[in-house]
Amino acid sequence: MNHTLAIIKPHAVGSGNAGKIIAHLENSGFSIKAIKLLVLNREQAGAFYSVHEGKPFYEELVDLMTSGPVIPMVLEADEAVEKLREVIGATDPAEAAEGTVRNLYAESKGRNAIHASDSDENAQIEIGFFFPQGER
Ligand code: RTP
Ligand code: MG
Repeated sequence: MNHTLAIIKPHAVGSGNAGKIIAHLENSGFSIKAIKLLVLNREQAGAFYSVHEGKPFYEELVDLMTSGPVIPMVLEADEAVEKLREVIGATDPAEAAEGTVRNLYAESKGRNAIHASDSDENAQIEIGFFFPQGER
């Protein structure tokens, strides 16, 4: 078993879809190993997405991620990283496969409902960002 990080983005929490998204993840075979709800400040959101600094969508992404509470969670499954990317679907909901989280709950390429780690290495870094060792 391995681990990945998912974050339900603020607009999806605000529109009342958090419970449905969590159920979708559980029904897809993930177990929740840690979960919390918090509001990120601009420094935290910017640091989390620092790999995208300078890109045209960066400011919009920081605006979005600080616009309300997020729900990060550590998910466990076989090949958790690859599996979660499959379950959430493509970044742009117009390209996300039928039945994926983004196909069902995303509003646009920016407001795409959920984040997922993109490699085992980043999963470990991102899990540590929200759930520091001492807290787990
Ligand atoms: P994420 O990191 O949130 O799981 O999404 P991802 O890997 O599928 O996509 P990534 O390329 O890492 O982009 C991070 C987030 O930035 C926003 N974005 N907006 N308007 C745009 O062209 C655009 N491109 C990216 C999305 O919120 C995306 O999830
Ligand atoms: Mg990404």
